[in-house]
Amino acid sequence: MEKNKRTPVIAGNWKMNKTPAETFDFINEVKPLVKDADCKVVFCVPFVDLESALKASEGSNIHIGAQNCHFEKSGAFTGEISAPMLKSMGVEYVIIGHSERRQYFAETDKTVNKRLKAALSEGLKVILCVGETLGERESDITEEIVSKQTKIALNGVEAKDLENIIIAYEPVWAIGTGKTATSDQAEEVCLYIRNVVSKLYNKEVADKTVIQYGGSMNAKNADELLAKTNVDGGLIGGASLKSEDFSIIVKAASK
Ligand code: 13P
Repeated sequence: MEKNKRTPVIAGNWKMNKTPAETFDFINEVKPLVKDADCKVVFCVPFVDLESALKASEGSNIHIGAQNCHFEKSGAFTGEISAPMLKSMGVEYVIIGHSERRQYFAETDKTVNKRLKAALSEGLKVILCVGETLGERESDITEEIVSKQTKIALNGVEAKDLENIIIAYEPVWAIGTGKTATSDQAEEVCLYIRNVVSKLYNKEVADKTVIQYGGSMNAKNADELLAKTNVDGGLIGGASLKSEDFSIIVKAASK
C-alpha cells in the first residue's frame, strides 16, 4: 500500500507540561490553526489535563489521549490510572511504552504488552513507542532492539487490533536532544518495523499500520521526515507545546 493510502497521525506528547487552565487555553488557540488538517491530530496530555483538553476540543478535529495506563482495571496501585478510567472520560488514545517510562519508571517489554492489551480491551487506540538507545545504535543492534520491543508488545494481539495501534519509532538518542534522526535513518527503521509487523501478521496488515517517527521533530525538519514513504506522521514532544510550531508540522503532514 502506498503512503498516501494511510492517514498520517500527528500526535503531541506534552509529557509533564501545562496545567488544566493552560491546557484549555492552548487547545483553543491551536484549534483554528489545525482545523483544515488532512491528517489526524492528537494531543496526549497529563492525566490532570484530560478533562479540560476534552472540553476545549469538543466539536473540533482534535483528538485527546493520555500518556500511560495501568494494566489492571482497578486495585491497590497508588498513583496509577486504569484504561477503564480513561475510557469513561471519553479519552480516545493512550501512549504506551514511551522510552521515558521505560527509563525512569521500570517499564519493561512485558508490562508494555500488558498495558497495551488492557488499553485495547477498553477500546482505546494505542500509540506504542519503540526505539533504541545511542549505545544500542552504536553497537549496531537497532534492528534487534526494535524487533524485540515490537514483538513482545504485540504478543497475543490479534491482527484485527492492529487498526487501533500506531507504532511510534522514537530513537532514544533523538528525544529532547535536538538531535533528529536523518530522514533516511527514520525511513530505514520505520520500514524495518513494517516488515516485522508483516512477518508477525501479514503484508496487508503491515501496509495499513501507521508508523510514526518521534524525536526532535520540529517545524523545520518535519517536511523532510514526513515526505518519507514509511513515515506516517510524528510523535512530537517539545514542538507540540507551541501552537505555531505544531501547526506547521500538521501542515507538513497534510501535503
Ligand atoms: P521531542 O520532540 O521533545 O524530542 O520528544 C519526542 C518524544 O519523546 C515524543 O514522545
